[in-house]
Amino acid sequence: MKIAVFASGNGSNFQAIIDAMENGALSVEIGLLVCDKAGAMAIERAKAHSIPTFVFAAKSYASKEAFETDILKQLRIHNIEWIFLAGYMRLIGTVLLEAYKGRIVNIHPSLLPAFPGKDAVGQALEAGATETGVTIHFVDEGMDTGPVIAQAPVSIEPSDTHESLHQKIQALEHTLYIQTIQTLVTGVKLS
Ligand code: GRF
Repeated sequence: MKIAVFASGNGSNFQAIIDAMENGALSVEIGLLVCDKAGAMAIERAKAHSIPTFVFAAKSYASKEAFETDILKQLRIHNIEWIFLAGYMRLIGTVLLEAYKGRIVNIHPSLLPAFPGKDAVGQALEAGATETGVTIHFVDEGMDTGPVIAQAPVSIEPSDTHESLHQKIQALEHTLYIQTIQTLVTGVKLS
């Protein structure tokens, strides 16, 4: 099963997927990293593990349709069957949604529908919430709105800072994403 990961930044979730693939916990092959930010750490992670990359600059295209058409070409060249977003900071458009219907998945650092969009960690702290978490969901045309696949909570302690809460959420993301990807692509649950 060949998957693509889309990332814009650090790529710690991408790294968790690489590690799980290399240690055999995840029975997929990462066939492509798609990245819209030259210089993103995620690209270095791909290179270190000989994973092909497609790096593009959205502003050098006339439209989302135009750059997604180029992405789609690459996905087809690499025989990609599933797309997993991991910190990809763009809405997916109709070109990819139609080509990969029901096979595009995102991870978001809150219990959706609470705190969609940017800085979900900051939003939860700002709201004085006592709990937030992680959501993995199918991608539709909205911002963090598609059907939920898996969720897990994280409690917010009075002493939590943005950084400490972010760390707790990311640790959970790294395990929940692996389990969910494995279930989705093989139908077999990790114990
Ligand atoms: C994660 O918190 C994910 O939930 C959100 O973007 C962040 C990406 O982090 N969509 P990383 O680049 O995987 O470290």
